[in-house]
Amino acid sequence: MSARFTGKAVLVTGAGSGIGRAVALAFAAEGASVVAAGRTAASLDETVALIEKEGGSAVAVTADVTRSEDVRTLVRRTVEHFGSLDVAVNNAGVFRGGAPVADLPEEDWRTLLDINVTGVFLALQAEIARMREQPTGGAIVNIASNLGAHSRIPGVAGYLTTKAAVSALTRAAALDHIADGIRINAVSPGATATTMSLLPGETEAGRAARMKDASPLGRVSSTAEVAAAVLYLASPDAASVVGSDLVIDGGASA
Ligand SMILES: NC(=O)c1ccc[n+]([C@@H]2O[C@H](COP(=O)([O-])OP(=O)(O)OC[C@H]3O[C@@H](n4cnc5c(N)ncnc54)[C@H](OP(=O)(O)O)[C@@H]3O)[C@@H](O)[C@H]2O)c1
Repeated sequence: MSARFTGKAVLVTGAGSGIGRAVALAFAAEGASVVAAGRTAASLDETVALIEKEGGSAVAVTADVTRSEDVRTLVRRTVEHFGSLDVAVNNAGVFRGGAPVADLPEEDWRTLLDINVTGVFLALQAEIARMREQPTGGAIVNIASNLGAHSRIPGVAGYLTTKAAVSALTRAAALDHIADGIRINAVSPGATATTMSLLPGETEAGRAARMKDASPLGRVSSTAEVAAAVLYLASPDAASVVGSDLVIDGGASA
């Protein structure tokens, strides 16, 4: 196996489940030391145990990305544990949907903006503050969504708005900080094999049947497929990729 990230310290938010866990495992499998962050200690500990079972190195740090103090502490603890912050993946996010704009509860709107947009903004600030002090700079990958800029489906106004903001924030931050030696990009997954892509009450078999028609590829992406895109953007292979938004959605927005 290649080990593109040997000796690198990688921070992943939302690493206790789904895409974030797969990203954490993939980096560890390629030699990185991983900080797995999120709000729930038990699920982060599971991610760390999975990494250690494969001989990798990881620590769990609880943090709520909506709290600037938490993300600053998260970056500080990454450096304390592993000596630097080479890669950060801002993956933590939530979904609320199912209602047209007129009926979208204000509380859902505010929660979406708080976690999906302000959470990424605060994490970027803390991560960039550290990375621009390092002679080696760093790489950051934000997890947006094909719903933000590329795909059009009704009933997801709040979520869609936040993910469009993540794509826009990625482009803006990439231009602002490439001169600091920090490359910032986004991955925009389509429906991916996590609980987030299940409709209310839907089983995985039901989702598989739905995706046969809903996606040109005929299925959801695996979390490993999305993780592979994240690792590519964080790797030296993508040294000239700046401010891009890599869509991984089986052709849903083609
Ligand atoms: N699955 C899809 O089809 C799909 C498609 C496009 C984009 N995405 C995006 O991919 C990312 C990961 O989603 P997923 O599908 O893997 O869903 P998931 O399993 O629900 O993962 C989301 C993670 O974010 C964490 N999180 C939520 N709020 C947080 C906060 N305030 N602070 C820190 N961590 C927080 C959650 O852990 P705690 O609750 O323990 O904190 C959880 O581990 C999200 O940004 C999502 O919008 C997913």
